[in-house]
Amino acid sequence: MLNDAAVVILAAGQGTRMKSRMPKVLHRAGGKSLVRHSIDTALEIAPRERVFVVVGYQADKVRVETDAAGVGSIQQTEQLGTGHAVMCGKDQLAALGGRLIVSVGDCPLIRASTLEALAETVRTSGAAAAMITTEVENPTGYGRIIRDAAGNVQEIVEHKVCTAEQLLVREINSGIFCFDAGLFWKHTGEIRPDNAAREYYLTDMVSILIRAGHRVAAVKLGDPSELLGINNRVELAAADRIIRDRKIHQLLIDGVTIVKPETVTIDSQVRIGIDTVIGPFAQILGGSVIGENVRIGACSIVDSSVLGDDVEVFPFSMIAASTLEAKAHAGPFARIRMGAHLAESAQIGNFVEVKKSRIGAGAKSMHLAYLGDSTIGDKVNIGAGTITCNYDGQKKHPTIIGDGAFVGSNSTLVAPVEIEAGAYVAAGSVITHKVPADALAVGRSRQVNKEGWRKRPRIATTSE
Ligand code: UD1
Ligand code: CA
Repeated sequence: MLNDAAVVILAAGQGTRMKSRMPKVLHRAGGKSLVRHSIDTALEIAPRERVFVVVGYQADKVRVETDAAGVGSIQQTEQLGTGHAVMCGKDQLAALGGRLIVSVGDCPLIRASTLEALAETVRTSGAAAAMITTEVENPTGYGRIIRDAAGNVQEIVEHKVCTAEQLLVREINSGIFCFDAGLFWKHTGEIRPDNAAREYYLTDMVSILIRAGHRVAAVKLGDPSELLGINNRVELAAADRIIRDRKIHQLLIDGVTIVKPETVTIDSQVRIGIDTVIGPFAQILGGSVIGENVRIGACSIVDSSVLGDDVEVFPFSMIAASTLEAKAHAGPFARIRMGAHLAESAQIGNFVEVKKSRIGAGAKSMHLAYLGDSTIGDKVNIGAGTITCNYDGQKKHPTIIGDGAFVGSNSTLVAPVEIEAGAYVAAGSVITHKVPADALAVGRSRQVNKEGWRKRPRIATTSE
């Protein structure tokens, strides 16, 4: 953590080549928006109150992300260039002093350690600025790093205005800088929009600082993969793959078994405990937190949910925004959603849907049921085909079932309704009134047997 560093992330552009109605930086890779990747990396090296994002195109939407991350935003109403973008933050940034890191919102693979090395270069080398550079096979479109005979950085020249000789330079500017903040704000007014695009180029700061007698350093990366910038959906897909591969690699190193990892999708924020086994084609998404020794079966999807230790999710289940306490079982083919909560050792079986309900410890609903807006006690047994009728067409109503109750198969529980502890509901009942504790409720018409009915004289039908 660098306490004197501030990070400003440029994210005001539209990103035309995404061909999207949404700003480029809100597209997601590894389950997280591009700008959120940049913010989270910045937060690894700088204090939260010193991290800012420059917003412009659809600023309100991008600000949802900065607000969620608890970092500041800077408004750039007109996109007049990368230099102009930083200058828009003068009020918030100039007073901070120290080192100013300028990063971008569309470069999600950059590592915090690289930004830290960049900032440390400025501190230890006495340079006024440094930028991350690398050599690429095809430098088309990038600003070139121009060095003198001694190898010192002289200037950055944008591709569009390179001479034939400069076009041959393969060392490119990543767009990520660190400046001595005092010197940056002293000289930034010298940037002129004297180029074909009439833009204020941040890259001009290099020659401006050198002209003022300072030195500019470069941190040259041997492996350019960290610098993959996202301009279109091909690059977005490539970044997504790399982020997910990094995540899976880290989980494997950390003691999680992943079967056929190339088929598994895990978002970057997910946490998983040791000895958990993830089956093929599983997806674990959002901020899910998975305990130790959990089984997540093939093709199951766990989204924004918390699974305690020793939980077992059998294949083809969907669990969203829910909590499964230790040793709970779900599936195969279970659907558990909207704040559902399974207490310890609860069991939800095949073709059971649980919505906004609490299922008590050791309670079971093993087959073909719908449990919505219900509170189900410990050790309750819900028979196959049981339905909570929670919706009357206008409002949702609760169902309450006390500890140890037994609900026979194919019961229809018309909410609001309560079945008290230890009560027993006969199979096929329609329950519309409270069932007292330990009572038997039979809510169905009696069976009638008509003796000899098949042998009665048949009445001829007209078609004969
Ligand atoms: C920039 C660099 C170039 C470098 C390349 C690396 C300049 C002048 N050029 O070029 O040397 O090789 O990045 O990818 O800086 N932005 C704003 N406001 C603006 C303009 C841009 O916030 O007014 C943001 C964009 O949203 C983007 C970033 O700054 O995230 C870079 O801008 P972009 O226009 O893509 O710069 P390049 O032409 O790629
Ligand atoms: Ca760019």
